[in-house]
Amino acid sequence: MTHAAPPSEPPAGTTIARVLFREARPADAGALLAVKQQLDRETSFMLLEPDERTETAQNIAADLQCLAGSNSVVILAEGPGGVVGYIDARGGEFRRNRATAYVVIGVLATAGGQGVGSGLLRAIERWAPAHGVHRLELTVMAHNERARRLYERMGFEVEGQRRECLTVDGELADELYMGKLLPSRPASPPPP
Ligand SMILES: CC(C)(COP(=O)(O)OP(=O)(O)OC[C@H]1O[C@@H](n2cnc3c(N)ncnc32)[C@H](O)[C@@H]1OP(=O)(O)O)[C@@H](O)C(=O)NCCC(=O)NCCS
Repeated sequence: MTHAAPPSEPPAGTTIARVLFREARPADAGALLAVKQQLDRETSFMLLEPDERTETAQNIAADLQCLAGSNSVVILAEGPGGVVGYIDARGGEFRRNRATAYVVIGVLATAGGQGVGSGLLRAIERWAPAHGVHRLELTVMAHNERARRLYERMGFEVEGQRRECLTVDGELADELYMGKLLPSRPASPPPP
């Protein structure tokens, strides 16, 4: 079994071009929803089409409240003008899968290509060890070359392919499963 090298650490608190990476709080729900809605409109590389998102700021606030201290988290990338991206990591809810977290990432087009996506992935890797997360996994559309390049650069490996599992802009599309093992070991479960 191989482990990717730990990511290089950006300076504490801030990283790229005055972008702060920080955990989302319930008060961020409106800003997070606005970013998700903007991504629904501007990219077809994420799952939802613009009229399919039903969650509200209230739902998001309640969810963020529940995440505190758990093996799941939402980290925001916040620039001088507000939130420009996020990463959502959901840890498994049972003892046998709680060290695995499924990751979704989105960065607004206006903030792309400046290291925000890389910074969000590094932020999750810094968060993971203290929350018992040993493995990150995600799916990415096979034709999303930019995202795939980012994940591979950050140490994710392709582990499988879901053939023609999506219809995107009227065309069938494949999705890749990608995963990355982190150096931290999952905590031993307490005795029964
Ligand atoms: C895919 C996505 C997350 C990438 O985010 P990003 O912030 O653009 O990612 P980064 O800037 O860290 O890296 C992207 C590129 O910018 C380059 N880059 C990184 N830091 C940089 C910097 N400081 N200055 C200039 N370029 C930089 C990287 O080398 C990389 O180049 P490459 O694509 O040729 O490898 C973002 O484009 C996105 O959310 N797209 C729409 C939704 C999506 O596809 N989500 C993923 C679904 S699985």
